[in-house]
Amino acid sequence: MGRVAGKVALVTGAARGIGRAQVLRFAEEGADVIALDICRQVETTVTPPSTSDDLAEVALLAEKEGVRVVTGVVDVRDGGALTEIVADAVADLGGLDIVCATAGITSKGAAVELSEEAWETMLDVNLTGVWRTCKATIPHLIDRGGGAMVLTSSLAGLRGLRTVAHYTAAKHGVVGLMRSLAHEVAPYGIRVNTVHPTNVDTPMIQNPAVRAAFRPDLDGPTREDFAEAARTMNMLPIPWVEPRDIANATLFLASEEARYITAVALPVDAGATQL
Ligand SMILES: NC(=O)c1ccc[n+]([C@@H]2O[C@H](COP(=O)([O-])OP(=O)(O)OC[C@H]3O[C@@H](n4cnc5c(N)ncnc54)[C@H](O)[C@@H]3O)[C@@H](O)[C@H]2O)c1
Repeated sequence: MGRVAGKVALVTGAARGIGRAQVLRFAEEGADVIALDICRQVETTVTPPSTSDDLAEVALLAEKEGVRVVTGVVDVRDGGALTEIVADAVADLGGLDIVCATAGITSKGAAVELSEEAWETMLDVNLTGVWRTCKATIPHLIDRGGGAMVLTSSLAGLRGLRTVAHYTAAKHGVVGLMRSLAHEVAPYGIRVNTVHPTNVDTPMIQNPAVRAAFRPDLDGPTREDFAEAARTMNMLPIPWVEPRDIANATLFLASEEARYITAVALPVDAGATQL
């Protein structure tokens, strides 16, 4: 208990999935939280959207841990709005110590068949959105005299995957951003790392489109059909990890326990990167 007590943590993509688990894990360990999400469908994606009710529910659950929570509906593609909402929330909570750039999307298609819109939207959210989040938050970490940033990349940030070249390019880009940023902000006592999940049991993968991509041999594959195929991606005999597994790794990287860990790309991947 209390591994980040008295800190303020900001999470994008907070309404559900990994971002939601990060908000709750930080709250359990005593941090006040700024929880941001777009709460609507992003163009070119087929994943059902998160809602403002989802975000409100996360805030309610986190507040039950006795911490303060500020929520905001914002698109990481809108740098101006992001900067403003971050500044207001940081003023409300009295500072900022931890930043989790977690918001992300997925869509699918062979590299040569992707539309310009699908490519640009992917890069804009999954790479430039992470940069915008860093840009909007770093001045507040500097004001605080230090901090920790955890950028959510993917298994696809460390190796190539078929039919998601745009996602893979963006997630590799996040590693490059992390490595350069780590140099730039180290003099201010700010650490920057990435986490690289294998499949995680969230709405991003638990939907008919992704199930069908994993099981093109079946009509309307079930969760178990999907699990069977997903298991072959991992070294450990599991189909996917839980959002809390990623939140636990994030919490470690954000905490004092990791005070000299920076510029590291940490897989949380059940061994998938090595297969
Ligand atoms: N689920 C997986 O298997 C998996 C694996 C590796 C990496 N990841 C990465 O983890 C992160 C979280 O994914 P998840 O599985 O929790 O997905 P999810 O779809 O369950 O949640 C993503 C959240 O991000 C929000 N979001 C999307 N675009 C946004 C934007 N433009 N501005 C603000 N918020 C936005 C969504 O509204 C949603 O609430 C993503 O970056 C994803 O690429 C996921």
